[in-house]
Amino acid sequence: MTSSTLLLCSIALLYSASFGAEAWTSPYIPVSSLISKSLYDKFFLHKDDTACPAKDFYPYDAFIRASKSFPAFGTTGCLATRKREIAAFLAQISHETTGGWATAPDGPFAWGLCFKEEISPQSNYCDSTNTQWPCFPGKSYKGRGPIQLSWNYNYGPAGKALGFDGLRNPEIVANNSVIAFKTAMWFWMTEQKPKPSCHNVMVGIYVPTEDDIAANRTAGYGLVTNIINGGLECGIPGDARVNDRIGFFERYTKLFNVDTGPNLDCAYQKPF
Ligand SMILES: *[C@@H]1O[C@H](CO)[C@@H](O)[C@H](O)[C@H]1NC(C)=O
Ligand SMILES: *[C@@H]1O[C@H](CO)[C@@H](O)[C@H](O)[C@H]1NC(C)=O
Repeated sequence: MTSSTLLLCSIALLYSASFGAEAWTSPYIPVSSLISKSLYDKFFLHKDDTACPAKDFYPYDAFIRASKSFPAFGTTGCLATRKREIAAFLAQISHETTGGWATAPDGPFAWGLCFKEEISPQSNYCDSTNTQWPCFPGKSYKGRGPIQLSWNYNYGPAGKALGFDGLRNPEIVANNSVIAFKTAMWFWMTEQKPKPSCHNVMVGIYVPTEDDIAANRTAGYGLVTNIINGGLECGIPGDARVNDRIGFFERYTKLFNVDTGPNLDCAYQKPF
């Protein structure tokens, strides 16, 4: 990208933070035109290896079909912002489902989307104090799908928003590729207070409060990590999980030919 595009995008980011994201947008471009099947397959070089339990579960078409249920995903802001949002989403789900290791073929960041469900869950992830989304007897709300959706209080509202019974039939998230991608996009697009949505952070709609500024929670990829798992990973300099998330993002933004934007890390951010 040229430095003038970069400048334009920075201005757009500032401008949209003050006046709303719609204030500065490029024409509508479908997600499938921003990321082709061949680029997608280059990101996920090993997802269909026999070594990966999610072999054939995360095809390009399912990703594109799911994205159509979220019209603002990857279509907001200038071109670089859109590509950066898609890269951030794919990087975070790659960390959640990675099959990579330090000396893996093609490097650790070529192994996203290798798993579709948690292999040895520590529990059935039932928060029985949550009466709004009660657990169904015998069901496990363990990590499933690209974002490894977990807990009854996520399966319930995700299912309600997407049209499946998340409490009685959580298994569908590891059985239906389009629904699986939709649960990850639902998590990405939905604000769960006091956290902003990952989408609003990546496209410049998020405006930090005074508390957020005091906690170093300024916009950037690190803040998205904070939203997803900050309670366990943020505020810890050199955390290996955070660095793994960053490694995927750096590889994907490079393949997209866009910069990563500021605040990659959450090492000095307080969790929400
Ligand atoms: C689909 O879900 C059922 C439970 O409803 C489960 O027993 C089965 O293993 C799942 N199939 C796949 C392919 O994951
Ligand atoms: C904010 O970041 C700075 C370093 O950049 C650090 O010294 C400070 O402790 C951080 N504040 C919080 C609340 O974590």
